[in-house]
Amino acid sequence: MSLTPRQRILAALDGSAVDRPPLWLMRQAGRYLPGYRAVRAKHSFWEVCKTPELSTEVALEPLALFPLDAAIVFSDILTIPDALGLDVTFGAGEGPRIGKRLRSASNLAEWRTDGVLQRLEFVRAAVHHLRSAIGPDRGLFGFAGAPWTLYCYIVEGQGSDDFRAARTLMHADPALASAALAKLADVTADLLESQCAAGADVVQLFDTWGGLLTTEEYARFAMPALRRITARLRAKGRRSLLFVRGGHHLLPLLKDSGVDGLSLDWRTSWRDARALMPSLVLQGNIDPILLLSSPQIVADSTRALLKDIRETSGYARSIVNLGHGIVPETPVESVRALCDTVVGAR
Ligand code: CP3
Repeated sequence: MSLTPRQRILAALDGSAVDRPPLWLMRQAGRYLPGYRAVRAKHSFWEVCKTPELSTEVALEPLALFPLDAAIVFSDILTIPDALGLDVTFGAGEGPRIGKRLRSASNLAEWRTDGVLQRLEFVRAAVHHLRSAIGPDRGLFGFAGAPWTLYCYIVEGQGSDDFRAARTLMHADPALASAALAKLADVTADLLESQCAAGADVVQLFDTWGGLLTTEEYARFAMPALRRITARLRAKGRRSLLFVRGGHHLLPLLKDSGVDGLSLDWRTSWRDARALMPSLVLQGNIDPILLLSSPQIVADSTRALLKDIRETSGYARSIVNLGHGIVPETPVESVRALCDTVVGAR
């Protein structure tokens, strides 16, 4: 069976036969790569995101270095809060900051929802430009943040371990939280549809902070917003995956969120997840911190994951990836060891 990388991705998503699981890596473009660092020495992060030639250049670098089956558009989940007029900045050496935090109904009323998709036009343009550059034979992922994770950043105003302001507001004013989540869902669905129309084969929703919620909280707040998005994507025949960091307790709920598959975090057992979800696409889930150890250890762990995948579904409906994004300290040799092991799999 000789498949192009894109055919391999589509076969995995559609449940048809594959020679081996397709492969891509969350945050595959980024600070661990020399070319990315060189581009960032000359241009700000937002400039890279908003200039199609630059976003394509950095998205292509990992494809040139490693045998990956798919590219992912270079962008960020915080494009949406930025386009809503919430003043998102990335300071040197610190995480993102949001100037206009959500604390009251009047804050929500100030969100600039009129024309928001036009202000996100650069994301569509980035997908379109990247598709032209990779041609028809490589897979292409679009993405966005899940509403809950965007809500977390918008309330907190910055990164956090526990997002206590965001969770406190959810309890204190559940109607405001739900209204914000619904607004975020509608913009996110528009953005993801625009990425699919521009050439993305599939979109991934990143719910990096979904694992902070109990099952009941996730069902009440995060899930209705997610389902607003997946209902729209499904109606158009678009494929989607969902990554929830720390979401193992949520799997019984997430499997009915309307996505085609789930991206597992590194703490979730592949075999347990597959037993629970025999017909969904599963993606993951090598620990990104393992890549800091040695190429040999990475190759051994990758072989162990491939064995789990082979023995549970015969490689079907499975995508090899990390259990969260690559960290900046990652040696390129570790990434190569992972990729070479997957490509050598039979
Ligand atoms: O995978 C890819 O190659 C595509 C690019 C991508 C970025 N951000 C680029 C980026 C993707 C998929 C994201 C998603 C994202 N952004 C998430 C969800 C996934 C995850 O990792 O949990 C979140 C929570 C964000 C928000 C965000 N953006 C944070 C917290 C930060 C600062 C911390 C960090 O990792 O640097 C960013 C900045 C950011 N987004 C960088 C990159 C390459 C670093 C910017 C730089 O300093 O050059």
